[in-house]
Order: sequence, then C-alpha cells, then structure tokens
Amino acid sequence: MSNIDWFREARFGLFLHWGLYALPARGEWVRSVEKMPEEEYMPFFREFSAPDFDAREWARMAKQAGMKYAVLTAKHHDGFCLFDSQYTDFKATNTPFGRDAVKEFAEAFRAEGLRVGLYYSLLDWHHPDYPHAGDPYHPDRERPGVTNEGRNFDRYLDYMHAQVRELCQNYGRIDIFWFDFSYGDLRGEAWRATELVNMVHTYQPWALIDNRLEVSGEGFGSLVTGHPTAYSGDFVSPEQIIPPEGIRDVNGNDVPWEANFTMNNNWGYCENDRHFKPASMLIRKLVECVSKGGNMLVNVGPDARGRFPAESRRILREMGDWMTVYGESIYGCGKANLPKPEYGRLTRKGDTLYVHILDAPVGYAAVPGVKKESVRARWLHSGAEAKIAGDWISGNYPDHTFLALGPEPVLPDPVDTVIAVSPTNQP
Ligand code: GLC
Repeated sequence: MSNIDWFREARFGLFLHWGLYALPARGEWVRSVEKMPEEEYMPFFREFSAPDFDAREWARMAKQAGMKYAVLTAKHHDGFCLFDSQYTDFKATNTPFGRDAVKEFAEAFRAEGLRVGLYYSLLDWHHPDYPHAGDPYHPDRERPGVTNEGRNFDRYLDYMHAQVRELCQNYGRIDIFWFDFSYGDLRGEAWRATELVNMVHTYQPWALIDNRLEVSGEGFGSLVTGHPTAYSGDFVSPEQIIPPEGIRDVNGNDVPWEANFTMNNNWGYCENDRHFKPASMLIRKLVECVSKGGNMLVNVGPDARGRFPAESRRILREMGDWMTVYGESIYGCGKANLPKPEYGRLTRKGDTLYVHILDAPVGYAAVPGVKKESVRARWLHSGAEAKIAGDWISGNYPDHTFLALGPEPVLPDPVDTVIAVSPTNQP
C-alpha cells in the first residue's frame, strides 16, 4: 500500500545532502573522486560539530519556499550515518556534533507540516564487507594491496537491512524511502530488494519508494515495463533532467516521476561551486515538471556549520514568493493534455486550466482546444477577470480561446504570470 496521491498533490520537495563531506566541501563524492583513503577522511569525523545546525530553521525555510516534503541523506555513499545507528560507530552521535540529525530533521519538518523522506545509500565505502577492489566507485578501488579477501557481501546486506529497519522503527512516519543507487550487477535481488521492500512496508506501509533498487538516475526500471517487480519502487527519479514528454509505461499509462536537481552543480556542499541557478529558472523548471505530470525535488547542500548557503536561502525565499501567489497552479496539478503554447506552459487541475505565460505574446495569448463561449478567465495574482477576446482579430481561429492581456506589454510577473481558465458553469 503506498499513498501516491499526496505525492502528486505536493509536486515540490526539498532534497538535503548533508554529512562529513561538507567539511572538505568538494561535494559528496569527494572520497571516490579523489580516491581518498579513509585515514584522510577520519579527521573530518573527529571535527564534525555543525554548531549552527537547526532543523527547525531548515524546516521553516522549506515551508516558506512552498515545499511540501523533504528528503534528507540519512547515510550517503561514504557510510557516515546522520542517525544514531546501533550497528556502527561511524555516526553523527559519535562526533563533536553528538546529535541524531535524522531525529531532529523528522520532528522539525513534521512540525511545519511537511512530509518526511529519508535518502539511504545502498553503497557504503566505510563498511569492510562492501566490495573495494574492482568496484567502479570505491575510494580504495585501485589502492595497492587492497583486495576483497574476507569481505562478506551478505554480511554487508544484513547491516544495510538492519539500518533501514532502524530508520523504519525509530523516527515515526516516513513518507518516502529514497534509496540510491543500483549499478552493474548490484541491483534488484543483489540487494535482497524484495526482502527490503517488504520490511519497509511492514513498518511503514504508506511509504513511497524510489526506483533505484533497480537503476540509478539512469534508467527507469520495471515501473515502465507494465510488469513492475516487487522492488520497482513507486516513482521514477530522473536526475538533473526533465523527461522531454513526462514518463509513461509501455501501455501508455502515466508513471509517477520526480526530477531531482541541484541548485548549483553539487549535491553536497562545495565551497568553490557558486554556480547557482536563479530562482526564476527553478520556478520555470518546476512548472515544466508539473506540466509534464511530474514532481521536482530541489537540493540544498548545507555547509559544515549546518547552515544553508546564502545563495540557497535567497533562492528558496524567491521561489516561496512566487509559490505564495501561484501555488494553486502547481499543487495537485498535472498535464493539460493540450498542445504546449508558444509563450509558455499549461497545467491542469480538474476542469481548471492554468495558463503559464513565460514569454509575453504580442497581442492575445492563444489557449488551444478551449471554446471561449464555455470558459471564464481570472488573473491568478489578483483574482481579477482576464478578458477573453471575441473580436475580428481572433475570429479566424474558433478552436482557440484568446486571452486579452491588456495594454501593458509587460506582464505582472516576469518569471511566470498565470491565468486560470475554468468552465463558466463551475461554482
Ligand atoms: C547521484 C549522485 C549522488 C546523489 C544522487 C541524487 O546518484 O551520485 O551523490 O545523492 O545523484 O540523485
């Protein structure tokens, strides 16, 4: 049983990548990319204190941005656990920080009314039983003398499953388990995935699961085959890309999906990566995702002090300003199943069509496939009536409704001005 309805209603979530890697501040793959031996990484474990960490502040910023759920890295590929696991010493409660960040995250975000998701890495570069030599990503993959002698992968799977059970049992209602990622022969039952999913559903029967027990950001998995496996997950997780036409299965049925994006070019905090996408761009990408029937998960990589980067805080504020006015055209909306207009995009909720004008047209905004006699139009920012043209200029195109945008060529919102078009017989 999984409750995909809230997911489709929510549309907009926060991804949080936080852990020891915020200290070297070169992204969450720093150990793998730099083939960093564990002994060079452990000083960060002994130093991690996050003096400014405040999950309630994180939650307030997410709520103000208009986000409806959040997913935090309980454990990333480096194996460091932000939660007080009984199965490892490599955890936040054993650092100078000394706290269970997952507990504080879950409580704070729930208190702000957001749903809680936990990211959990299937990879684990700290665990001795995880493959080292020959693995394409392990930091020690080429280290002289390092072999897989004595490594017992089944013992690692017991550890991994036990930790997921801890996350299921100790942190209240978890709405999403965001596993990451499958590669090579490590996919599906190589993770004992059916057992893992059944365990999650035993303790958290409502929890949604992503599709990465089968694939990575690449590939859709069995969700699109018409014959999903027991561990297909509930949604596809395209990474740093918006599917050109949404995602359907082989039978043409829409499949739930959630595109995940970084604000800059790194998931984990990266001191030198100041290439942040402007809020205007992320707003338009959110509209695009929803217009194609998907969700958008936008990432923040908090720094070693536990703070959101200043750029991220500003972007969240600006996204929230737009969502406060126009959120109605996002939440619970999806595909319009009409041709995309030249000037923008369309989202639909029930009988109401939301016309997103991103690039003001000259003259009227043509809405395809809508009979002007049967609809009324309202500027979403003010609720005021938007005029529907009925004059000689538009008379040649009876299959379109033309919205007259008035004498001012610059629209109320330069990022995306929205007009709601709904049946006149609606209450
Ligand atoms: C990629 C990255 C991983 C990140 C994930 C988010 O898999 O390797 O670090 O957590 O994308 O989708």
